[in-house]
Amino acid sequence: MKRIAIPALVLALCGGVLMSVLAQDAPKSSVVAAAAAPAAAASAEPAPDVVCFESRKGGATDVIQREIRPGWPNVKCSPTTGAVLWYGDPYDGTVPMGKMPQLEALPEGKAVVKPRTAKLNLAPMCGTACHNGVGPKFTPPTLPKDKRAKPTPTMAAMVPDLANLQHGRDRIWCLDCHHTTKRNMYVDHFGDPISMDQPQLLCGKCHGDKLRDWRDGIHGKRIGEFASNGKKRWFTCTECHNPHNVQDGARNKGFVQLQPETPPQLPKGMKSAAYEKTHPIAQH
Ligand code: HEC
Ligand code: HEC
Ligand code: HEC
Repeated sequence: MKRIAIPALVLALCGGVLMSVLAQDAPKSSVVAAAAAPAAAASAEPAPDVVCFESRKGGATDVIQREIRPGWPNVKCSPTTGAVLWYGDPYDGTVPMGKMPQLEALPEGKAVVKPRTAKLNLAPMCGTACHNGVGPKFTPPTLPKDKRAKPTPTMAAMVPDLANLQHGRDRIWCLDCHHTTKRNMYVDHFGDPISMDQPQLLCGKCHGDKLRDWRDGIHGKRIGEFASNGKKRWFTCTECHNPHNVQDGARNKGFVQLQPETPPQLPKGMKSAAYEKTHPIAQH
């Protein structure tokens, strides 16, 4: 009994030290991890990863929690939803945004983004494995004349969101976004390719108003230095929107709703939030 208990205790303690960093802000997820730690330790396997998400769930914006230096995690996540709430380094994993019309005045490196291609499993293969120009089936030369969305069973089997493509409600389809011959690129209005790391250039060709708002900082999200000329990480369109199911869900509008965070903790001494309702902020 003793011979098993002592190493297990030691290992559990090691796990405890590691996890105590996370315990401060993420009680639930760290409890799960800490509870799993002794079991994992007993079978000499590393503790399971704590996986959080940034803005779009389902693997599209996953971040694995790790230490960027001792005691300093890359992210802290919500114990209720798993969403990233705090960054140890807002520029972790980013690259310069690349050319953006009307942002030329912004010095190189001040605007950074997380490359989307790192998150896409199929896209890097699309243009080489299947749509490689060999055989007419795999490289349709033109858009269908009626431009109506057509079922794509093979694709839907690989990307389930494509089974019921709602985007544009039948007015747009695959090759309005994906380049006809360079399948691991998007396409602009002139037929020229756009990098998959610059989805804003694709979305912006049709949603010009949103692109303008995004550029002005009214739509989307940026993190980093507070000063207006400081370095910031810009969230790109597809980090929040899944282009294949933007009009999905019962609302048939926007995107599938996220689980909201719980309300913030009440200030010290305040017993209930009813005060907020009986004393609303003055309207001028
Ligand atoms: C509104 C533009 C748009 C339309 C229409 C569209 N796509 Fe996409 N597609 C995208 C974007 C943007 C991405 C990358 C999403 C991301 O960054 O997460 C993508 C990703 C993909 C991927 C790669 C997925 C992966 O995980 O690597 C495939 C395959 C794909 N689309 C196929 C299709 C097919 C087939 C159709 C037509 C039935 C279609 N798409 C219609 C914009 C579109
Ligand atoms: C080829 C043109 C085209 C491109 C490219 C395109 N969209 Fe759309 N999008 C549309 C159309 C058309 C609609 C439908 C608008 C409507 O029904 O009112 C739409 C609808 C939407 C909606 C839903 C709007 C609502 O009212 O619910 C969102 C969100 C959206 N698009 C996001 C994107 C994002 C993000 C991208 C880039 C990945 C993108 N779109 C690329 C044409 C496009
Ligand atoms: C940080 C996340 C985020 C980013 C980045 C983002 N959006 Fe959105 N967008 C939203 C949210 C949230 C809504 C509201 C969705 C809803 O009502 O369901 C929205 C709504 C929209 C709509 C629908 C607006 C309407 O009138 O209903 C369009 C179109 C759109 N975004 C396009 C874009 C484009 C294009 C980009 C990139 C240039 C972009 N978004 C970047 C979060 C984001």
